[in-house]
Amino acid sequence: MSSPHITLVHLSDLHFGGYADLAQIEALETFIPTLGASAAVVSGDLSQRARHGEFQAAHAFFQRIRAHMPLLVVPGNHDLEWWRSPLGIFGQTVKYEKYARYFGDLTPVLELPGAVIAGALSSYGVAFGSLTWNLRDVAVKGHLPASETSRVKAIFDQAPAGAYRILTFHHNALPGGISRRHGLANWRSAWRRLLTTGADVVLCGHDHTEGAGQIGGELAVSTSGTHSSRTRGGRPSVFNLVKIDGRAVHIQHFRWESSGGRFLRSDTNSFARRGAPVAVSVAGGEHES
Ligand SMILES: [Fe+2]
Repeated sequence: MSSPHITLVHLSDLHFGGYADLAQIEALETFIPTLGASAAVVSGDLSQRARHGEFQAAHAFFQRIRAHMPLLVVPGNHDLEWWRSPLGIFGQTVKYEKYARYFGDLTPVLELPGAVIAGALSSYGVAFGSLTWNLRDVAVKGHLPASETSRVKAIFDQAPAGAYRILTFHHNALPGGISRRHGLANWRSAWRRLLTTGADVVLCGHDHTEGAGQIGGELAVSTSGTHSSRTRGGRPSVFNLVKIDGRAVHIQHFRWESSGGRFLRSDTNSFARRGAPVAVSVAGGEHES
């Protein structure tokens, strides 16, 4: 029997450093505790260049949110020092040392009453699994190894029956609404494996544009925007509030209104859970093409 519902704040791409919008960060600190959420999830890119000061600013922000609710965070492509081990020549751990010093586990799990949230690692820097034929993708694109999707499946398999299963990683699982770009290399394989994990919803970011859609007509995807000045097309920043109930996943967008210095409730997209008809996606790409 599922819990009545669970509500999660979904943030991404804060990019502390030169591009972070402090007015938004400060507004988030006061607004998030009013939303009645059980937890906050940050799907990566806390920093711009994985610098100590950027991580420290993110850490302080997270501590202020954690005064109100648990918070889970995974690293984005900007949060690892890939240049310390390109193509893994000096091992994998060195790339994540600085991030781990501040935020610990790269793949955290958070158990809540009636829900389990699992973090997966999609950010590897310049790595064989993330390479494509497009030079723009070097150190930007991510991938989801089979070992990650099977590890997450095992976590979800062991969760209590009826618990909502939430998966988060950094790279956008659906193509961006403006960019039309996938965040994951080998996305067809990733989609097939994501559908086997048992997740109810994927929370991701990376594209700097909000989105809500489905993979295969059954797995909802929440893509949160950025709170830096680097939005696409000059559009306002957006973060998401994700509510799961027994029947559906509801993805509510909150749009930044810079003149008023506040976030405004915007569109909601609702997707039926397992086995329901495919819903229209503002992020596009609910089927392979
Ligand atoms: Fe980003």
